[in-house]
Amino acid sequence: MLTTTYMGLQLRNPFIAGSCGLTNTVEHLREIEKSGAGAVVIKSIFEEQIQYDSAQSLKGEGSLWKDTFNKVVGEKEYFYDDALAYMENYAKEQPLNEYLDFLKRAKKEISIPIIASIHCTTQYNWQYFAKRIQDTGIDAIELNAFLLPSNFNRTSEENEKVYFEIITEIKKYVTIPVSLKLGYYFSGLANTLQKLSDTGISAFVLFNRSFNPDIDIDNLEMTSNNTFSYPTEYFHTLRWVAILSGRVQADIAASTGIHDAEAAIKQLLAGASTVQVASAMYKNGFPVFTEMIKETEAWMKKHNFKSIDEFRGKLSQNKVENPAAYERVQFIKIFTNII
Ligand SMILES: Cc1cc2nc3c(=O)[nH]c(=O)nc-3n(C[C@H](O)[C@H](O)[C@H](O)COP(=O)(O)O)c2cc1C
Repeated sequence: MLTTTYMGLQLRNPFIAGSCGLTNTVEHLREIEKSGAGAVVIKSIFEEQIQYDSAQSLKGEGSLWKDTFNKVVGEKEYFYDDALAYMENYAKEQPLNEYLDFLKRAKKEISIPIIASIHCTTQYNWQYFAKRIQDTGIDAIELNAFLLPSNFNRTSEENEKVYFEIITEIKKYVTIPVSLKLGYYFSGLANTLQKLSDTGISAFVLFNRSFNPDIDIDNLEMTSNNTFSYPTEYFHTLRWVAILSGRVQADIAASTGIHDAEAAIKQLLAGASTVQVASAMYKNGFPVFTEMIKETEAWMKKHNFKSIDEFRGKLSQNKVENPAAYERVQFIKIFTNII
């Protein structure tokens, strides 16, 4: 009764284990499968790891990676020296072959669909590796492309072009479904996502949750401690799932702040094909999926829905009586002191 399709894949239910540190071993994947999840997205491999690997094989020396990388990228708009140094070390520790072997083993031992993930911020010189990922037999690839438009010299058009070029490049190498996991920093979010959906990608994952810098006022230094989401964070995604549902040529996976069945059902009612769960896996363990499934089934029974399709998108913007509610961003009453 919970079966669904996502990116053309048959899923036993719409609850997907999102890419995170709990999806990086076969042992964890077994637990995730056992708990009932419909699919799993593997922990991301970073574009920089692929570029490091390719620079190494071209030049034969890891230390040349940074120079090669900067030459390829041209300008370091999204990269900073500490990030490069971190990635250089990380890349050394995580040879790409290990990642491919892991995917092969996972595919052999796990029967739910497996989606690999590549974290990318440029269109340069990493997409060839997607073909090697495809050759492991995994079912689809998720591209985690979260670009912060913080460069004062770049227009929104230039920033958005990167996403189109990433897709054009990867499509040269793979035939399996590809999804885009995005942030929300677009000046024309609805328009850009509609155009991106015409490129042949199979799904959007809305939204990635950004790492946010913070300030420690006692030590006067920068810090961050917001690794995990809170259950109240699902609102932002809900709005955009509802607005985009039925208007983009791609499935939508809702992500961020989905900690229980109630939040998941809301996203499905707004029009999501699937939901992705990461923080709640850390908080409640793998049985979080068992619980979500049980509660969703109970809710469906109560409302007499026999399948997900019977209620998916029922409250999307183009189906509700008051579509403007999804575009309202100000509390008029509160702001005008009426209450
Ligand atoms: C510890 C941790 C590691 C993560 N690693 C990745 C990653 O490698 N790739 C990725 O696309 N997202 C990663 N994420 C983001 C999650 O997939 C997800 O988009 C985000 O946490 C919001 O969903 P949530 O509210 O269910 O946690 C990570 C999240 C956490 C908490």
